[in-house]
Amino acid sequence: MIALEAVCKSFSGQPVIQGLDLRVDRGESVALVGPSGCGKSTVLRLILGLLRPESGIIRFDRRALTRADLLSVRRRTGYVIQDGGLFPHLTARANATLMARELRWQPEKIAHRLAELAELTRFPVDGLDRYPTELSGGQRQRVALMRALMLDPDVLLLDEPLGALDPLIRFDLQRDLRAIIRRLGKTVVLVTHDLSEAAYLGDRLVLLRDGAIEQQGRLVDLQAAPASPFVSRFVAAQRTHLVDEPSRAQGAAR
Ligand SMILES: Nc1ncnc2c1ncn2[C@@H]1O[C@H](COP(=O)(O)OP(=O)(O)O)[C@@H](O)[C@H]1O
Ligand SMILES: [Mg+2]
Repeated sequence: MIALEAVCKSFSGQPVIQGLDLRVDRGESVALVGPSGCGKSTVLRLILGLLRPESGIIRFDRRALTRADLLSVRRRTGYVIQDGGLFPHLTARANATLMARELRWQPEKIAHRLAELAELTRFPVDGLDRYPTELSGGQRQRVALMRALMLDPDVLLLDEPLGALDPLIRFDLQRDLRAIIRRLGKTVVLVTHDLSEAAYLGDRLVLLRDGAIEQQGRLVDLQAAPASPFVSRFVAAQRTHLVDEPSRAQGAAR
């Protein structure tokens, strides 16, 4: 569904993505992880066409992206960022339905789709006429998710969608997001710096370092057979063993 082939991107002469090869199959959910500044958000912006690579090819549904394809790719892609990126002067309803109204969908079709999405994202219907500042952080992210799903895109790009939420709300949204990903079968590229979230939401983890893949696989692969000392340090720093091996964690606590 998505392929990056030897993609390079720099900002002001500073290389940020360095010969990146990444494939995401249709229906697969891939989690991009890595230290801050390693290029995770840049990868999503390249896939979305918000940035153009200096060299290399980005394919969407096997077609190499050209400028002419960008609009159709954006319509086939839902994008959610950390703070939701909602328009503050629009209600939840207006934010979520923006693209559909732009495309002149019939009002009944929009209302039907919105009701469906409110149920899917477990967003309270009485919150639809509130403005973003009148919603909680978790509710705002549910609106951002509704907006991203409105046109029923093939691909979802999620850039630390739960990064700004407190742990309990984050826990609920992780569970709901996982159910949504599984139920809809979308192709998902998710950025997170939380390894256990990556393992919970992604079929595969891709660990980036300085704009190149350091290692990819399941979390257990990274733990059991780290490809480099960097991978070991990155995994150890998150203490995911406390999550994966509760008995050992309890033992250590005693
Ligand atoms: N539009 C931009 N202009 C200049 N530098 C940028 C821009 N976007 C990102 N960068 C730089 O590129 C690097 C990677 O950024 P980013 O992809 O946002 O990292 P991550 O999402 O992994 O934290 C960082 O050093 C960042 O400062
Ligand atoms: Mg980022």
